[in-house]
Amino acid sequence: MRKKVIAGNWKMNMLPNETIHFIEELTPLVKDTQNEVILCVPYTDLFYALLTAQNTNIKIGAQNMHFEEEGAYTGEISGKMLKSIQVEYVILGHSERRQYFQETDEIINKKVKAAFQYELKPILCVGETLEEREAGTTEEVITKQTERALEGLSKEQVEKTIIAYEPIWAIGTGKTATKEEANNSIQAIRNKIAQNYGQTVADRVIIQYGGSIKSTNAKELFEMSDIDGGLVGGASLKADEFAKIIQYNKEG
Ligand code: 13P
Repeated sequence: MRKKVIAGNWKMNMLPNETIHFIEELTPLVKDTQNEVILCVPYTDLFYALLTAQNTNIKIGAQNMHFEEEGAYTGEISGKMLKSIQVEYVILGHSERRQYFQETDEIINKKVKAAFQYELKPILCVGETLEEREAGTTEEVITKQTERALEGLSKEQVEKTIIAYEPIWAIGTGKTATKEEANNSIQAIRNKIAQNYGQTVADRVIIQYGGSIKSTNAKELFEMSDIDGGLVGGASLKADEFAKIIQYNKEG
């Protein structure tokens, strides 16, 4: 059985003091969950987040990295740097990086490979635009993005990659994909992985949904057969709301 993995993506929000308070508030609310909890914070919050989350079940991730190890890339952060402060996860290929920072599948593939080189676990984002959905090309778009980002990885590496299916039209818009739409897209990605890497890898790989997840819709989404949790943007900025999403399956 696959684990449910619930990750917060803070995007460009939260200061160090807010980070410390947030994690202190979240810790007791989620300490008894069986679900995996990850918080992906801005670079400037990483160190504070890692210290505050020590000895808790909250894992810390970054939101991006460069694929080179070091060098003349002003303003960039490498996988080696993230690993050096014990960051565990890194979001790669988020649609906002693809859209505003011209990240291509090729660049994202280099980043995914670099993440494994430094023993970071990538959270790879894929997703279609509204135009692509309306043109009926969703499956083609998301399976191609997945294939290209994973090119050249071993089966073991593919199995360790967390994939986040985030339809772009559902991000920050309040429009959630229906649970069936999300599950169908995720099944298409899983089938492609089965085709390329075998059924065992496909059965084990974690594939999340992302896009306007809230405490009021998390349960119906996460209970679907192929949705292994979520990547949460806006609703991960309030500890009590994020805790409710993480605890979607808590009894009573
Ligand atoms: P929202 O949950 O704010 O729609 O953002 C989703 C997202 O982009 C997470 O990476």
